Amino acid sequence: MKASLMIAIAAAILAPAAMAGAPAANGEKIYTANCASCHSAGVLGAPKFGDKVAWAPRVKQGKEVLYTHGLNGFKMMPPKGGNPGLKDDEVKAAIDYMAKS
Ligand code: HEC
Repeated sequence: MKASLMIAIAAAILAPAAMAGAPAANGEKIYTANCASCHSAGVLGAPKFGDKVAWAPRVKQGKEVLYTHGLNGFKMMPPKGGNPGLKDDEVKAAIDYMAKS
């Protein structure tokens, strides 16, 4: 009983700290809400999340090119993933999240 209480308290203290340390949590949320519809399955030829082969040549262009394409659109990629309500920084966070995948 005592030990399990200690574990519960430790978990309660550690969980928020672990979450705060998670990288690009914001980018992940924006990706899931706005970009995953195409980028998780590769719709229209979108580079898939986690597909290093598909992302490597794109990342090589440089972050600024990726940002510009994400913000303004590129071929079948709609500007801001089709959500003009997103802030530039939110789109960039989602791009960082995908490019690192
Ligand atoms: C309607 C489908 C669709 C949605 C939604 C979408 N994308 Fe894309 N995206 C594409 C396609 C298709 C490509 C590939 C374009 C090409 O190279 O032909 C692409 C390519 C990209 C690229 C690579 C551009 C380059 O220079 O190679 C980035 C970065 C990107 N998308 C970011 C995003 C972000 C960020 C979101 C969400 C905010 C998003 N996309 C949402 C379809 C989509």
